[in-house]
Formats: sequence, C-alpha cells, structure tokens
Amino acid sequence: MNNLRPVGVIGTGKYVPEKILTNSDLEKMVDTNDEWIVSRTGIKERHIAAPDQATSDLAYEAAIKALESAGMTGSDLDLIIVATITPDSAFPSTACILQDKLGAKGAAAFDLSAACSGFVYGLATATSFIKSGLYNNALVIGADCLSRITDYTDRNTCVLFGDGAGAVIVGEVPEGRGFKSFDLGAEGAGGSLLQLEGGGSRLPASAETIENKKHYIYMNGREVFKFAVRVMGTATLEVLNKAGLDRSDVDLFVPHQANIRIIQSAMQRLDLPEEKVVVNVDKYANTSAASIPLALVEAAEEGRMKAGDTVLMVGFGGGLTWGASVLVW
Ligand code: ACO
Repeated sequence: MNNLRPVGVIGTGKYVPEKILTNSDLEKMVDTNDEWIVSRTGIKERHIAAPDQATSDLAYEAAIKALESAGMTGSDLDLIIVATITPDSAFPSTACILQDKLGAKGAAAFDLSAACSGFVYGLATATSFIKSGLYNNALVIGADCLSRITDYTDRNTCVLFGDGAGAVIVGEVPEGRGFKSFDLGAEGAGGSLLQLEGGGSRLPASAETIENKKHYIYMNGREVFKFAVRVMGTATLEVLNKAGLDRSDVDLFVPHQANIRIIQSAMQRLDLPEEKVVVNVDKYANTSAASIPLALVEAAEEGRMKAGDTVLMVGFGGGLTWGASVLVW
C-alpha cells in the first residue's frame, strides 16, 4: 500500500444537533439515574436530532465544513461514502442525497453499513480507490441518527446513544504523511448480539414487527462489552504491526466512543497515557459511525495533532465488525 501515492486527510468537519438530552432528562423517562449512567458508561449527555432532521441533514452540515476546511466545493469531489446504519431511507442512499445537495455532479456515491466501525471501513475504501488512481478527492462521512431506532422505554439501551456526523476529505498528501495501515474485520457469528431485525427483507415492516419492537436496536450489552475490549486491543496491535510501528509511536489514540470503561481497558492494555487519548463520550454518547470522526475532528479543532503526528483510530460495532487505522497527520 505504501508504494502508491500517499493518501490522507485534507479537510475535516463535524456537526451535532442542537437539542441536548441529559441524564437527568432520562431519569424522568425510565428507571435510571445519573450515578448509574456515569459510573457504568461515562456518558453525561447526548445530542438528539430535531424531528425534521434526518441523517443526510446532519451529514450535510459536517460535509460543508469539511469542504471549507479543505478549500474545496462539492464539484471537486469524485467519490462520496456515507457510513451509516440509519440512512434517510433504504434507497436512494444517503450518499446520493448528499451528492445532489453538495453539487458533486458526476461523483460516485454510496452508503456503507458497518455500524460503529463504518467510518474506518469508509476511510480504507476511499484510500484504496485514491491510491489506485480511480478517484482523487473523496468525502467520507460517518453519520447516524440512533435516536430514531432507540426504544426510549428500554433503560438498557436508551441511555447509551446520541446523534451526530463527522466528515473528512480524503486525498493526496505530501510524501511521508497519510494512512499507513488498516485492519478491518468481522465476526458475523456474533451478529445477533447487536441488531435491528425489522424492516428488511427477512422481516418486513408489519403491525406485528411494530408491536414486537423489532424496529429498535437490540443489544446484549455484556457480550458486546467483552467483544469490544478484546478487539480494541487486538486490532490496535495488528494495525501498528502492519505499519511497522510500536505502541510508543502513537501520538494520539482515537477510539470509538461507546463506553469509558471500554476505552480505559484499551488504554491500560496498550499502556497509553490519558493525554494521548481522545474522550468525548461524556458529551455525545455513542453516535455509531459518527463517533470516531466526531472525536477526530474535535481533536483537530482543539489543536491536539500537529503535522507528522501518528494518529491511531479504532472502532468496533454491529456485525460484529471492527476497524483500525494508522494515519500520519
Ligand atoms: N439504569 C439503571 N440500571 C440499569 C440501566 C440503567 N440505564 N441499564 C441496565 N441497568 C441494570 C440492569 O438491568 C442490571 O440489573 P440486574 O442486575 O438487576 O439485572 C444491572 O443494571 C447491570 O446490568 P449490566 O448489563 O450487567 O451492566 P453493565 O455493567 O454490563 O453495563 C452496558 C451495561 C453499559 C450496556 C455495558 O454492557 C456496555 O457498555 N456494553 C457495550 C455497549 C456497546 O459498546 N455497544 C456498542 C453499540 S454500537 C452499535 O453498533 C450501535
């Protein structure tokens, strides 16, 4: 991969909806409390899309900022990938809706479904296309409106999720910089641990699927937790190995923001000090595909990376899937 032209991030943008749902708001909705949520998850609040906002609206706001920061307009794009599990509708894809709104005439556009790992899968896909010479400038977005598929009467899940979007422009960068390695993977056998069963070709929407709450996220939290802790460690070590680097080479660790305890266990296993780890799960909760780009873009906005820094992103999610990347900023 490294013999081809260097490809990296050349623009960033993020967006979260205005409305904030706090832990004390949730105390009024289900049998929970701030102490339980903070101690078990690290989450204090999350942003929730307005009734008239869909995933493409969140993605659009993030995309405009990413284009601006790259000094580009939609017409400079030749590829748009939206990682999401909450598209505006089954089809057309959310990426096609954006292609039109951004004026990216002629750009290829598609959605990518890998849940919380989707953004890293999208980065790997765009990087491969650009390295091969097929495309030059790709918009990669992680965007989700998990509030639309969350059961706000189920305390096991409703405290965990939020809405948001993060976007990057992927393109050619100077020699020595850019993506050095990816490690993507899946364990389909664990698919039923984290799923939304209704509304597809197996279980089309019906009065019965609504009655049985088949259009909401189902999660076996304990099993997903174990998987997450395991793959955060193994994928991180594997992606570093592929890049020929050691854990001490990491300047900034950008993990999927699902639960502070999962992040802390990865930090301990990898022996990473707190100042090298991006944490914003307290403000946004788990935003699925938006989680890693929200953390990456926020870190960039706060000036936490300088040119040449080694940034390691790693995520896990439904599928089950995982994705990790090493990027020289
Ligand atoms: N408030 C109060 N009590 C609660 C709440 C709540 N919101 N939720 C669950 N409880 C109770 C449970 O009912 C249980 O009670 P019981 O022992 O009487 O049955 C008790 O708390 C403990 O429940 P556990 O599930 O054992 O709690 P745990 O410490 O495992 O934490 C959590 C649960 C936070 C869900 C954790 O398992 C976790 O973070 N899992 C991973 C989640 C994750 O990363 N998901 C990724 C999804 S990404 C995607 O692709 C959409």
